[in-house]
Amino acid sequence: MKLFDVYPLFNIEIVKGKGCHVWDKEGNEYLDLYGGHAVISVGHSHPTYVKAISEQVSKLGFYSNSVINSLQQTLADKLGKASGYDDYSLFLINSGAEANENALKLASFHNGKKRVLAFKHSFHGRTSAAVRVTDNPRIIAPVNEGLDVTYLPLNDPFAVEAELKKGDVSSVIIEGIQGVGGIQVPTDEFMRDLRTLCTQHGAVLILDEIQSGYGRSGKFFAHQYAGIRPDIITVAKGIANGFPMGAVLISPMFKPVYGMLGTTFGGNHLACAGAIAVLEIMEAEGLIENARKVGDYLIRELLEFPEIKEVRGRGLMIGIEFENSIKEIRSELLFKEKVFTGVAGTNTIRLLPPLCLSMDEAGCFLEKFKKVIRK
Ligand SMILES: Cc1ncc(COP(=O)(O)O)c(C=O)c1O
Repeated sequence: MKLFDVYPLFNIEIVKGKGCHVWDKEGNEYLDLYGGHAVISVGHSHPTYVKAISEQVSKLGFYSNSVINSLQQTLADKLGKASGYDDYSLFLINSGAEANENALKLASFHNGKKRVLAFKHSFHGRTSAAVRVTDNPRIIAPVNEGLDVTYLPLNDPFAVEAELKKGDVSSVIIEGIQGVGGIQVPTDEFMRDLRTLCTQHGAVLILDEIQSGYGRSGKFFAHQYAGIRPDIITVAKGIANGFPMGAVLISPMFKPVYGMLGTTFGGNHLACAGAIAVLEIMEAEGLIENARKVGDYLIRELLEFPEIKEVRGRGLMIGIEFENSIKEIRSELLFKEKVFTGVAGTNTIRLLPPLCLSMDEAGCFLEKFKKVIRK
């Protein structure tokens, strides 16, 4: 059987990782400024994380959501404390798309409305409602077209107000910082306007923190820079450092009903063990503060490069936009300098390293980056 060929692959096989470094099967070492697409939060193969998952699998790998799994409550307690949302409830699933799918559904159950407002250049996943609120017609199949969505420009409160006034909007979904869209940071003022407008017009505010959350921005959630509290927050990626998991944080205004939401694998024992270890490591090692400190340093230094058109981002979620395609720069970084980076569109390099990136590693990246763009 062949693999369904949907991914353009680099001819590299990564077989080992430690901290912010990975190794290919030929033994070449790479600096990882990509984190497997913002997934590696506490670093590759962190001993506390490895121990937690190994010990759990040796006891019990899985049992269903029809019996008590106290690891879920332990995770909820720790996540509530770490994020400042201990009055919210937690629903656990397996991926980011699933988190958004459930968030949109919950909003619609709650207010009985159907239309959703999303933003230009948004990315929210590839399943039915999540892909429909994604601003990319190439990945929306006819079968996904049923949901009524209006895409609005980011940072335009008047456009949002004009739509909300029509009275049929169930929810507004926005990324804490747009990732796939090229690291576009909504203004704090716009976030506050959104909060006010959603409350005024009875629409649910959904914050997709799947890429920008879990400490990446230098705060637990990127929207916390604006001092707002959304009605629903979705997370995934860094939550379990690579073990597949997603979660929905739900405000007390939503009342759960048996059978309203559900999943087979969501919140399983192994994912919970991984996610609990992640929060313990983040706290013990001060990784959110580290993301802010090292991110500030990287952004400050990158702003000094006249070759760069624009540097955007917060913490360790950084977009470096050039006037032209970055294909060659990225390829030289990877194959010559052995540095993994991400991309957004054609002209923007995306940095999404593990949150434990040290100042030395950041400095090392800057040296290699300079060598490539000034060769
Ligand atoms: C902001 C955002 N939302 C949702 C998703 C979808 O997550 P998943 O690929 O886990 O379904 C992603 C993935 O890149 C994302 O960046």
